[in-house]
Amino acid sequence: ADADGTSAPQLRHEITTVGVVGTGTMASGIVEVFAKAGYDVTFVGRGEDKIAGVVAAITKSLDKAVARGKLDEDGRSDVLVRLTGSTEREALAGADIIVEAIAEDLDVKLALFADLDRIAKPGAILATTTSSLSINACAAATSRPQDVIGMHFFNPAAIMKLVEVVTADDTSAEVDETVRALCLATGKHPVSCGDRAGFIVNALLFPYLNDAIRLHEAGGASLDEIDEALKGTKLPMGPFQLLDVVGNDVSLAIQQSLVETFGHAGWQPAPTLERLVAEGKLGRKTGEGFHTY
Ligand code: 3HC
Repeated sequence: ADADGTSAPQLRHEITTVGVVGTGTMASGIVEVFAKAGYDVTFVGRGEDKIAGVVAAITKSLDKAVARGKLDEDGRSDVLVRLTGSTEREALAGADIIVEAIAEDLDVKLALFADLDRIAKPGAILATTTSSLSINACAAATSRPQDVIGMHFFNPAAIMKLVEVVTADDTSAEVDETVRALCLATGKHPVSCGDRAGFIVNALLFPYLNDAIRLHEAGGASLDEIDEALKGTKLPMGPFQLLDVVGNDVSLAIQQSLVETFGHAGWQPAPTLERLVAEGKLGRKTGEGFHTY
């Protein structure tokens, strides 16, 4: 039960404006999630072209939703008018919660959190969608660790319901409860977990994906045979299809952090994963990964 003994989490902080930092696949999906749920969203990117890219990606997704009968034309335009893109982080000063989805690199994240500490209004929630870095480390880069939390969305964020809500040592109970309530308000399914590499899903999913690569490397079966066989077990995608959706660079970073944390020698990234990343074959986003698009 939460603070007042109720079992459903409540919004302990008023949330009207959401800030998002980043313009990649995850950031774009997260902007879409909040705008669809009726929040005004300000998102910050490193250039006008990147900002236009987010609007284009969301427009494409909304068009798809309309075509599927999940959204009407009015709903589509309501979502688009809620979006404000900016190249200045200062634009986030009015946000009630800021979710960052920038590069999966600790130094880059720490510099961002120090910046958000300077910019965000008092009491704003500072969330990260990191999939493998420490929430405690992000919190320690600010003077307000009680307001820092992990909100780990899954790819594609606009569709996947799960969000792992990751509390760090100092995250306040109100912030944790508010973020879980916010997930429910956006149609997501929050699951709480502690701050350890891979949280729950990636700690279990990525060793399987890595083993699929090793099976292929060992001559066990072709990419398509493995994908087809696993889809036959009712998984929605085979391992190589999913690796290409997630991105091989992201997958490599997650696998490396699992090895560092758990010290399991068998979890070393498969050589093919390292080679594809070195060759820039990152998956769907570059047009080629394990498969070609
Ligand atoms: N807007 C709204 N809804 C949409 C949409 C859009 N743009 N596009 C698709 N949908 C809806 C569809 O209407 C459908 O919903 P319905 O069943 O209620 O009608 C649903 O999404 C599925 O769409 P499709 O039927 O077109 O496609 P699939 O059935 O092939 O599903 C998928 C696509 C959901 C991506 C599915 O293949 C899947 O679940 N794949 C696995 C994804 C996954 O596991 N992601 C996690 C990766 S790990 C991760 O992200 C962690 C990170 O740290 C790396």
